[in-house]
Amino acid sequence: MKNKANTIKQALKSVINQDNFTPLHAPIFEGNEIAYVTDCIESNFVSSVGEYVNRLEEMLQEYTGAKYAVVTVNGTAALHVSLILCDVVRDDEVLMPALTFIATANAVSYIGATPHFVEVDEETLGVDAKKLDDYLSEISSMKDGFCVNKQSRKRIKAIVPMHTFGHPVDMDALNTVAKKYNIEVIEDAAESLGSFYKGKHTGNHAKLSAISFNGNKIITTGGGGAILTNDEVLAQKAKHITTTAKIPHKWEFNHDMIGFNYRMPALNAALGVAQMEQMDKFVRAKRALALRYMEAFKDIEGVKIFKEPKYAQSNYWLGALILDKGYEDIRDELLQVTNDANIMTRPIWTLMSKLEMFKECPKMNLSVSESLEKRVINIPSGAWL
Ligand SMILES: Cc1ncc(COP(=O)(O)O)c(C=O)c1O
Repeated sequence: MKNKANTIKQALKSVINQDNFTPLHAPIFEGNEIAYVTDCIESNFVSSVGEYVNRLEEMLQEYTGAKYAVVTVNGTAALHVSLILCDVVRDDEVLMPALTFIATANAVSYIGATPHFVEVDEETLGVDAKKLDDYLSEISSMKDGFCVNKQSRKRIKAIVPMHTFGHPVDMDALNTVAKKYNIEVIEDAAESLGSFYKGKHTGNHAKLSAISFNGNKIITTGGGGAILTNDEVLAQKAKHITTTAKIPHKWEFNHDMIGFNYRMPALNAALGVAQMEQMDKFVRAKRALALRYMEAFKDIEGVKIFKEPKYAQSNYWLGALILDKGYEDIRDELLQVTNDANIMTRPIWTLMSKLEMFKECPKMNLSVSESLEKRVINIPSGAWL
């Protein structure tokens, strides 16, 4: 066991090639970051009205091909608003993978809706559309045009597929199932800026999608996020609801609904504009790093580096090492020896369905997710490597 863990540590070391502490990620600021942030401060427009906010949105539109981008204070806020714009309300159920980051489930909970956990596919780490179809055909029935969970009697209003570590979900298969049951789709694209599904950027395969620019993402605005959509009305609503639902007027304060103060400040957007200018470089570096990891691991038995699905071109945001079945026992030893050697590694998230606040939520058979939870380890993935 110890031997195997050490062999894996050596393989990681051969790629990382440095002795000092190597984190999973760290932002890289080697472009116009300081110049733009300084310019933003000097302009006095540091809050949500400012040239940089519009510029970042335009750059996102151009890069992703989405017609509209609305930048927000973080990715969780982008998810929250996207759910509201899909008419998810209190007591609805929202499907999502159990294997996701907590924000997906939190955003649903903010509305008073219930996360309903579904299974992922081992080859994509994303929602398994075929199993989902079989499951829904068994547990739901259509009522007044909506999919209803026969047991809870709640409406299953939406699904939030998540592009794990940047690797796109099979969106065509998923959308077919969602359409069959009249379920709205929101892509949690928090991790997948720079990833393409069948040649089209992630975030363009559903009504709405959410991106994150947290410090650990492929580009960062410090904290920040964005909603992408190709629907003009939804884009206008997104902008409205994230700016306290204020009706534009030179001096009057009128608001036509309860909105949120979720708009990204210009100071953060200035950082984002400088980061977007380097997007191609970051994606190239991450893809090259993934290839080097694959090469280093190709002859090591019992473990592989996760590879993008055939239909996708991924940003390889976060590298993942997957132990073969039967090798689960070395996981903790591996975490120990790598972290002891200054190489940061960490297991994939605890399944949402196991967390105290979500353990009573409905769920399907999660045997693949449960197995992956014991076998996936994230490895240093900084573009500087
Ligand atoms: C899958 C997923 N969803 C949502 C989020 C939320 O983004 P943020 O941290 O910007 O709120 C993140 C990242 O942090 C994430 O990884």
